[in-house]
Amino acid sequence: MAEETITLAEPPLPPVHDWPVGQLDGTEFEPVLAELMKEGPLTRIRLSHGEEEWAWLATRYDDVKMITNDPRFSRREASVRQFTRLAPHFAPRPGALAWADQPDHNRLRRAASTAYTVSAVKRLRSRSQEILDELVDAMMQDGPPADLVERVLEPFPISVVCEIMGVPADEQQKVHTWTREIISIAGGAEASERAKKNLFGWIAQAIRDRQDGDGDDVLSLLSGAVKSGELKEEEAVSVAGPLQIGGEALTNNSGQMFYLLLTRPDLMQRMRNDPAVRPAAIEELLRYIPHRAAVGLPRVALEDVMIQGIRIRAGEPVYVSYLAANRDPDVFPDPDRIDIDRDAGAHVAFGNGAHYCTGAVLCRMQIEMLFDTLLARCPDLRLAVPADEVPFRQRTMIRGPLSLPIAW
Ligand code: HEM
Repeated sequence: MAEETITLAEPPLPPVHDWPVGQLDGTEFEPVLAELMKEGPLTRIRLSHGEEEWAWLATRYDDVKMITNDPRFSRREASVRQFTRLAPHFAPRPGALAWADQPDHNRLRRAASTAYTVSAVKRLRSRSQEILDELVDAMMQDGPPADLVERVLEPFPISVVCEIMGVPADEQQKVHTWTREIISIAGGAEASERAKKNLFGWIAQAIRDRQDGDGDDVLSLLSGAVKSGELKEEEAVSVAGPLQIGGEALTNNSGQMFYLLLTRPDLMQRMRNDPAVRPAAIEELLRYIPHRAAVGLPRVALEDVMIQGIRIRAGEPVYVSYLAANRDPDVFPDPDRIDIDRDAGAHVAFGNGAHYCTGAVLCRMQIEMLFDTLLARCPDLRLAVPADEVPFRQRTMIRGPLSLPIAW
């Protein structure tokens, strides 16, 4: 009898959903993302910009971890195409960490990595505490009310980043202004490009100026790597740029954290009365906070890959949502609830795999210092306006309060 061939039909492709960037207030989880998570583990999305019609979106924790740790999904391939995306303008620089695959990615990342290790960050602690104390002193001296973002959450990480990078004090304001223009999508592509050009031009010059030094700041380390031939100058500049811009992410993330603390008296009480709970609470808040709008950078499948019974074909772009993975009920039961007693340590707020956030150790230290210092210095820390009057950044990639009026 002739053998029967059974061909299992592949499921039809899911529909393509438009994902417009709507008004996002407070720490609200993006409704479009919540709907996509309900539809299935893999959906197809179309964002506001780019020429390609659609991309895959993975939202389940296990799939997100698999995709971000699998060399069959390439960042480099994604960098040469105008895929559907949130950002209006797209021109990745050669040598950018975020767009490199192995082995290039390792080579690029290695040059500056010693500045971001646990021990290097520890060495920065006392200088960081001085910076923070000065800012809090000045705020307290002027008296309430004060804008916590303007007085502390914005200048603190930028000063610490400048410290680790080796940006001289009298140039920090200029570098900060460019950073803000680059990450805002409100000013349009032109303003953002101009700021990028200025910042990257400044960095290139700083790297050249340090050629004969032996400092352990990031600009000196990168300069050394150029001198030894490990990196080309344009690669060193591409590595430095995002490290300089990254500090802004902490302003917005810690802004969301303090907003949550200031609007949830129980949470404030626990954090205040029980300092031992703070490290676990910070991990839970990192898990919970909707750090960004929509999704970050895609990857492209280099070959056909089956995920959850769906075939992702070679050449197709794939986004993962770390925000969605952090709300996967199979990993974090009752995920929409903030529960500082849960073990949230497996969250992926800083990403996963080779592209895991370079600044994670630095961020954790600064968040801890912010909580310890502000809770100790401001015994009655509270919002100075009703919660619904706190303005949040709109039309932006990284979410957070524009200002956080406080009294104490
Ligand atoms: C990458 C989160 C702060 C530097 C990333 C990624 C995430 C992330 C999700 C992407 C992972 C991927 O591409 O798959 C965060 C959060 C922050 C924060 C939640 C604040 C709480 C910072 C800071 C710096 C920084 C302060 C710089 C000092 C970077 C760099 C990358 C990155 C350079 C690219 C790494 C690579 O592609 O190899 N971050 N970040 N981040 N982050 Fe952060």
